[in-house]
Amino acid sequence: MNPTTRASCLYFLLFHFILNNYSHAAPNLGPFKSDISIPALFVFGDSWVDSGNGKYLNNSDPSSAYGVDFKEGQQSRASNGKTMADFIAQTFGLPFLPPYLSLNKSESIQYGANYASSGCGILPETNKYVYVRCMDLDEQIKLFESSLKNLRTSSDLSKSLMFVNMGQNDLDLNQDLRKNDSLDAGKYVAESLSKRLQRLYDLGGRKFLVSNSLPLGCRPCSIKQQNPKTPCVEGLNKLASQYNSNLPQILKDLESTLSGSKFVLLDVYKVFEDVFAAPGSYEPLSSRSIGESYVPMHK
Ligand SMILES: *[C@@H]1O[C@H](CO)[C@@H](O)[C@H](O)[C@H]1NC(C)=O
Ligand SMILES: *[C@@H]1O[C@H](CO)[C@@H](O)[C@H](O)[C@H]1NC(C)=O
Ligand SMILES: *[C@@H]1O[C@H](CO)[C@@H](O)[C@H](O)[C@H]1NC(C)=O
Repeated sequence: MNPTTRASCLYFLLFHFILNNYSHAAPNLGPFKSDISIPALFVFGDSWVDSGNGKYLNNSDPSSAYGVDFKEGQQSRASNGKTMADFIAQTFGLPFLPPYLSLNKSESIQYGANYASSGCGILPETNKYVYVRCMDLDEQIKLFESSLKNLRTSSDLSKSLMFVNMGQNDLDLNQDLRKNDSLDAGKYVAESLSKRLQRLYDLGGRKFLVSNSLPLGCRPCSIKQQNPKTPCVEGLNKLASQYNSNLPQILKDLESTLSGSKFVLLDVYKVFEDVFAAPGSYEPLSSRSIGESYVPMHK
């Protein structure tokens, strides 16, 4: 799959939403455009989608190592370019969502906001394995709740897109989960996500795009750290697959029990599987952090 095809898949995924038309004063247009429009995008997640909250938690600014191909005001990303959240925003003609912590308490979130926090996961228990200050999903949801007063109307919220990209840090970093033989870690993390998605529904979210986990064991950082005999670290990939295998049914169950909701899975595992299989056809793609050191994902 070339990059255009890959991104088109995302575009078609988003097409599955039944959304009303909205118009924005100054559309932010990217390579893809949706005919449908949404009032706002709310982003929850980790470093894959954080637009700079970490800086406001006094972590080092990732854009000092990255950010070479894309700068947006005071925002900062652990990527050389745009994140998934940025492409989604552009697809709908929305602005690049500011990190929520950069806003003052009365500032409008008319077009949405980004609550994502590099390093953290779904589970508060994962925090003790994380080397930076960050907000787990519960904390992100709490912030979101406190910000709803700055949204114009609650009908805007029900028509908005909730994008959730989290869980990889739980699977990757949380040793209590990984070393617990009596626990199905993938299932446990997926069910923990389910509870939080329900909470976002209770707060008024209706349209959800939820990422699964990429093949964690094929990241250059994992390969470098563990030096496996196989091309990727199979244990990590298995964990990611176990988590992923639970998500389709979980999203289906949520959609059937939560009236008026729509849950769509974003299969990043498949996307990255293609990238790792033929990195040369994707360059230059992105850079990712691996703890204290930085390694480019592809040349
Ligand atoms: C970050 O550092 C500033 C300046 O030292 C301080 O005022 C602020 O409370 C810190 N914020 C957090 C979240 O620790
Ligand atoms: C907070 O944001 C609002 C809206 O942008 C602005 O009018 C106000 O001056 C800001 N307040 C502070 C203290 O920055
Ligand atoms: C392992 O998981 C089980 C089931 O959730 C739990 O009851 C137990 O406390 C866990 N053990 C450890 C050492 O974390």
